[in-house]
Amino acid sequence: MDAVPIVISGSGAMGREVARAAAADPAVEPLAFIDALAGGDQCEGLPRYREAEACLDAHRPAVIVDFSNAAWTPMLARAALARGVRLVIGTTGLPDEFIAELRRETEARALAAVVAPNFAIGAVLLMHFARQAARFFDHAEIIELHHAGKVDAPSGTAKTTAERMVEARGEPFRHVGAELRTVAGTRGGELGGVAIHSVRLPGLVAHQEVLLGGLGQTLSLRHDSTGRESFMPGVLAAVKAVLTAEGLSLGLDELFGLA
Ligand SMILES: NC(=O)c1ccc[n+]([C@@H]2O[C@H](COP(=O)([O-])OP(=O)(O)OC[C@H]3O[C@@H](n4cnc5c(N)ncnc54)[C@H](O)[C@@H]3O)[C@@H](O)[C@H]2O)c1
Repeated sequence: MDAVPIVISGSGAMGREVARAAAADPAVEPLAFIDALAGGDQCEGLPRYREAEACLDAHRPAVIVDFSNAAWTPMLARAALARGVRLVIGTTGLPDEFIAELRRETEARALAAVVAPNFAIGAVLLMHFARQAARFFDHAEIIELHHAGKVDAPSGTAKTTAERMVEARGEPFRHVGAELRTVAGTRGGELGGVAIHSVRLPGLVAHQEVLLGGLGQTLSLRHDSTGRESFMPGVLAAVKAVLTAEGLSLGLDELFGLA
């Protein structure tokens, strides 16, 4: 099979990592970057465009890999789908309306997209195990820890984990507040009864702990991405899988045989 020609949207930390991983994989051919905000017309030895349309028309990729910003991804996706280009999206903080639009448009155009909040196999397994554990415990909290440059909170992984745990349990968890709160926000955010705490510190990459509590016991599940290379096998597998997939896939469970 010919190498899959890809364009990378976003030339930040993740986009550049994707370019390096793709260049090292003979089954994938990185062609160019799209980045509306970055200066300079070269990045990692590839041309860098500011406009999606100009890049897609010049290079005609089969797949776009997007690690950019939630404000940009919908515009990129519309330009891609209009040209028959499939999508692998890692950008987090995407609005639900955009996900619904992507589902509708990929189906209507017989195209495909993969949207995953976390491409690391360990994080995919953590979400899977948390979902399995959800029905055995009434209380759950998530602590997610990320580098200080992350723009959204909570992380997409934390949000998806909580949503899936509530779905698996069939009802919200029991959230415990604090009778007396002397500092605002110390009990974290809340989704379906799951308290979510977001830590932002230089030195971190992407980490998450799910804590479940019951009578006389707790269960802790933890995953750590200590480098961005942890995401690359999942990204490259999604690039290959999206070529023959249909419609929208949320997460990588199916890809890793966990569905
Ligand atoms: N799914 C995963 O496995 C995974 C892993 C890590 C990061 N992420 C997500 O990927 C995204 C990028 O992460 P990063 O660490 O590379 O960030 P980064 O800040 O290093 O890079 C973001 C890139 O997007 C571009 N950008 C930012 N705002 C934009 C806008 N409004 N319009 C157009 N372009 C814009 C920037 O120029 C930059 O090149 C984030 O949403 C992050 O949460 C996902």
